[in-house]
Amino acid sequence: MKLNITNRFNVAIGLIAPVALVGLLASNPAAARGPFTAAELADQEKALLAVVDHGRDLWHGSKSSMSTNGLACGNCHPDAAASNPQTFPKFQANLGKVIPIREMINWCIMVPQGGTALDVNGEDMVAMEAYAMYMYRGIKIEPGLATKQTPPVVVKSGPGFPKKGSGIGFDK
Ligand code: HEC
Repeated sequence: MKLNITNRFNVAIGLIAPVALVGLLASNPAAARGPFTAAELADQEKALLAVVDHGRDLWHGSKSSMSTNGLACGNCHPDAAASNPQTFPKFQANLGKVIPIREMINWCIMVPQGGTALDVNGEDMVAMEAYAMYMYRGIKIEPGLATKQTPPVVVKSGPGFPKKGSGIGFDK
């Protein structure tokens, strides 16, 4: 008999399926997975913190290709200040479109720092996002929020900072 491709496929499935089924029935039934143990959770936390640490280093100038003028993110966004990761994705006026935070990070690498953009899907970018998000734990997620008012810093002694926003980001 001359088989076309579909027939060949059916014949192949016909041969393989019973074998696979027998294999499945012979093995133990799938077991429901229990909650993560404390040790597993500790490992996961450790893995996250290693990525956050890498992000903190990048944020503070560990990768020279990210800057040609000596500036790092930390110069203008100390401790990720005014990066407002919880407001992305949102409309970014400079770019004239709605962007995820990774595009904003690359904008700041290329424009204020004159550096080379990161691969948006690379490990360094994940680390940058992880650091920013980690620093904003507990902050309400407000995607799409175009403007974010950061309260002015108030100090108990001395004049402190001006009671206006810094003007960095949408922190006006
Ligand atoms: C020389 C100062 C400067 C440096 C250095 C800088 N930024 Fe920015 N950043 C800005 C300014 C100015 C804006 C506001 C741009 C705008 O609103 O169009 C901004 C905005 C942002 C925002 C968006 C904040 C918001 O609320 O919308 C993020 C995120 C951000 N920067 C991350 C970074 C990261 C990450 C780096 C390091 C790679 C960096 N920035 C380096 C000045 C800087």
